[in-house]
Amino acid sequence: MCWLQTVVICFVVGAVVGGRDFPPNFKFGTATAAYQVEGAWNISDKSPSIWDSYVRRHPEKIKDMSSGDVACDSYNQWKKDVEIASDLGLDFYRFSIAWTRLMPSGFPNTVSEDGKKFYNDLIDGLLEKGIEPVVTLYHWDLPQSLQDLGGWANPLVSDWFADYARVVFSLFGDRVKTWITLNEPLIFCEIVYNTALHAPGILSVGVGNYLCNKHAMIAHAKAWRIYDEEFRPKYKGKVSLSNQILWLESETESDEEITEISRQFMVGMFSHPIFTKEGGWPPVIEKIIAEKSKKEGLSKSRLPPFTQEEKDFVKGTFDFYGFNYYTSRIVKKAKEGERIGPWPFAGASDLDIHLTVRPEWKHAATSWFYICPEGLRRQLAWLKEQYGDIEILITENGYASYDGGVDDQDRVQYYKEHLEQVLLAIEDGVNVSGYTAWTLIDNFEWSDGYRSKFGLYQIDFEDPLRKRTPRASAHYYASVIKSRSIDVDNKLTDEL
Ligand code: NOJ
Repeated sequence: MCWLQTVVICFVVGAVVGGRDFPPNFKFGTATAAYQVEGAWNISDKSPSIWDSYVRRHPEKIKDMSSGDVACDSYNQWKKDVEIASDLGLDFYRFSIAWTRLMPSGFPNTVSEDGKKFYNDLIDGLLEKGIEPVVTLYHWDLPQSLQDLGGWANPLVSDWFADYARVVFSLFGDRVKTWITLNEPLIFCEIVYNTALHAPGILSVGVGNYLCNKHAMIAHAKAWRIYDEEFRPKYKGKVSLSNQILWLESETESDEEITEISRQFMVGMFSHPIFTKEGGWPPVIEKIIAEKSKKEGLSKSRLPPFTQEEKDFVKGTFDFYGFNYYTSRIVKKAKEGERIGPWPFAGASDLDIHLTVRPEWKHAATSWFYICPEGLRRQLAWLKEQYGDIEILITENGYASYDGGVDDQDRVQYYKEHLEQVLLAIEDGVNVSGYTAWTLIDNFEWSDGYRSKFGLYQIDFEDPLRKRTPRASAHYYASVIKSRSIDVDNKLTDEL
């Protein structure tokens, strides 16, 4: 980098650190997910989800052999969650509904009174404090009874999900105005079937993942259309899905083409069907998978095609783009014998690439997590370039540490650097409407168990009441929200 570029970058960063503000209508939130926080896994008429079963069948797959059986006990302690959300000054709180708590059979013939009450109380509690509830319908906890019928590999799953969505919209749509249908199909399809490292622990490389991807796109579209036709006229809310995206950058100029193809696998797979005028899979990945399938002696592509009718049904089913950002990767063509590299990734078995990270990207407390704040701004620009000038809501961003202490200056730094990139993206002209910190409280981090901590608030997992204590990052985030600026104090104070 030449000295002039360095001066320009320092000037721009300096201007941001110097205290530039977020637009007045920009919203700040935090997020959690049902299995990660609620606990009460078998209370009342709740049925087991695939995570309830998985942690029982495969305790060894969770690094500390733990489970979400009790987690943060938010099922009982939800009032404390609302209280701390209010202390932070949040505009919104994103949480997910456990399908098995609300509809124990998986089907709409059973709607649990207890489940209804729990989510009604939580929603009303938030609204009383002036916090908008943002609700995810599916954050990876499929009813085990539906998994027994094939789960996301069965095309009928889109109808099961649509029925569930209708129940949720009809119960809570009068008060919930922002909905996320599916959280991260990249993880619950690609990572699940390509690695079996998450529930339901089924390995089906290059087959199950693509079946799941297609059924997820149709399921999302059905839910969006149900909302659009039956609920939007009276409730006037917004619906989309949340995609986790790793920003991908090429190692050298000659890797540019393969990097762009990789982005289509990573992002296009879950966006092209919904956010483009043509709809359907990105043509480049359709071609690659079809050719590979043919070479393998298959009569059909492993990537199930969309019919024209399905393409038309799925495209346009969004009101904003939900984007979860954590980390980035460098892409290069794989040499003989090289493996893809650090997860997560989509279409891994069909791409001959090798992923690395830059030496200066610090490692956070989980295998896949390397810190690259600039990736957030670059990915936002790419989304705008690909899908047009649409509203983008950052539905997750946050930092993992092994250290559970409260003076978490590394997390403060992570938030500051990433919020700075959001400000720069807004300045670039990207329509970012809000930011969600992952996560409100330390919680069950899937296969990491409770080893990696993402919380603004520390949870004492030894305490039956799961005491919540604010970290320095909570103070920092509260000050950002209050001042609408990132250049604020990050000291621990007794304000919260
Ligand atoms: C994204 C997922 O939505 C969330 O459940 C998870 O805890 C975070 N990533 C951190 O890994």
